[in-house]
Amino acid sequence: MDRKDFFKNCVRLAGAGILIPLLGQSCKGIAYIPHSIDSNGVLVKKSDLIDHRFVLIQPANLPAPIFLTKLDNNQYSALLLQCTHRACEVRPTGMELHCPCHGSVFSHTGEVLESPAERPLRRFRVLEDGENLYIK
Ligand code: FES
Repeated sequence: MDRKDFFKNCVRLAGAGILIPLLGQSCKGIAYIPHSIDSNGVLVKKSDLIDHRFVLIQPANLPAPIFLTKLDNNQYSALLLQCTHRACEVRPTGMELHCPCHGSVFSHTGEVLESPAERPLRRFRVLEDGENLYIK
């Protein structure tokens, strides 16, 4: 989902009365950040995460964006935003991840909070050096 599609979805959800309680947490502050791909995986700059609770990355070779966040323990979590129920694209609403197709909800670390999904979101390994994160 690109930025334009995301805002279209925000407008649609607002029209349905779903978005209003979530506005402060969902549409505001969502950022797609630039990335590059090399033999180390998807590379992003740590500095692009500053001022964001989470960011999205959209590598062309993946079926959905990556949700990247820094956890309280200073580790990074990178999840594929593709529902494990029937592969719809999952959307961040605050720090939870909601599937618009059948209502599954996942935590910001990918665990299932509400079914019908039974498996957690695909999690990528994240390595870091001084300036960059490498998502594998
Ligand atoms: S595809 Fe996500 S709940 Fe069914």
